[in-house]
Amino acid sequence: MLTASDFVPAKYDLQTVDTGCVAWKCPSNIALVKYWGKRDPQLPENPSLSFTLDACATATKLSFSKRACPSESVSFKIFFEGLEQASFRPKIAHFFKRISAYAPYLNHFDLRIDSRNSFPHSSGIASSASGLGALALCVMSLERLLGEELMAEDYFYQKASFLARLGSGSACRSIRGSVVVWGADPQIAGSSDLFGSPFPHRLHDCFKHFHDTILLVDKGQKQVSSTVGHQLMHGHPFASARFSQARAHLTALSQALKTGDLKAFIQLVESEALSLHAMMMTSDPSFILMKANTLQIIHKIRAFREATGTHVCFTLDAGANVHVLFPAAEKEIVTPFITNELIAHCQQNHYICDRLGMGAVPLSDTQMLAAGIGQGEDPAD
Ligand code: DP6
Repeated sequence: MLTASDFVPAKYDLQTVDTGCVAWKCPSNIALVKYWGKRDPQLPENPSLSFTLDACATATKLSFSKRACPSESVSFKIFFEGLEQASFRPKIAHFFKRISAYAPYLNHFDLRIDSRNSFPHSSGIASSASGLGALALCVMSLERLLGEELMAEDYFYQKASFLARLGSGSACRSIRGSVVVWGADPQIAGSSDLFGSPFPHRLHDCFKHFHDTILLVDKGQKQVSSTVGHQLMHGHPFASARFSQARAHLTALSQALKTGDLKAFIQLVESEALSLHAMMMTSDPSFILMKANTLQIIHKIRAFREATGTHVCFTLDAGANVHVLFPAAEKEIVTPFITNELIAHCQQNHYICDRLGMGAVPLSDTQMLAAGIGQGEDPAD
């Protein structure tokens, strides 16, 4: 079993690299079994499982230029959609500090980060999973250039996920695979608290290309940051019952994903979403993050499912937006229902059509240009 010390690089050769750049596109993910509650250093109180998204993604380019002398802390500039973003600095600086023991070579470079999201910034969709996932992968690509060219593929992705986790827990589930488990579970081979890993079983065909239409009910800033939210689970009266429930849900959901039991899938996924919100409603202080429109949508989804025998269901993040999940085979009947019945409950009728994706991909120079993130700037400028 890997431990954190396995991710401290044994050696790296600073002579191999002077300047250059690497780039990755990393998707967001939606948890079906939720991570809500953590302990230091960013370890989950229960295992979680997510669907990797496809359309919602962040493209990030990391340009590096060797410094004459190493800096005390990582020297970097951050540009988002072409503009320097001072407001992003604290989160990135915190990330670099957290990963310093595992990526000590970063202090030997001036870095420039150029990032762009495929989804609108003010959509209420958190970009920390895709953003920190993409950045962690760029860091690993740099590590590989520093002499670890023969680095095993598994190690590369496990460490990328490990680093991403230190930035934001859920980011570790965005790196590789379409269904990802994070958190040690005796029944999931290879699972770890330290990083996310692909669901180790064959996914039943009915989940292939599964759709996730994200209804933007509230595009504002999150009312409760994840950091505050996770803290609410410390001393929460239902904490231990919740963590046991999540473990049981993971076991049952794994079975449903293997066998294609859509009925069980729906029951588990909706229960997880409502349990997450129940935790927030019963914490101190308490939060009600669903809006009237969230509830209207939930009621309509349940009524439509009942009336049509389709397998459409919902899940929620820590906010008011609704993820509408359904099998690709039911697209013809579910899509008109979404457009005719549900979109009216969204802010400015906005929604995003997404589906199950495969994980992050490296970007070539041409792809970087196409993503609008490659102008070849010098990080030291
Ligand atoms: C409700 O990963 O955003 O989306 O580790 O503090 O960055 P930090 O939290 P974060 O929490 C995600 C919470 C969730 C459920 C989930 O994605 O599992």
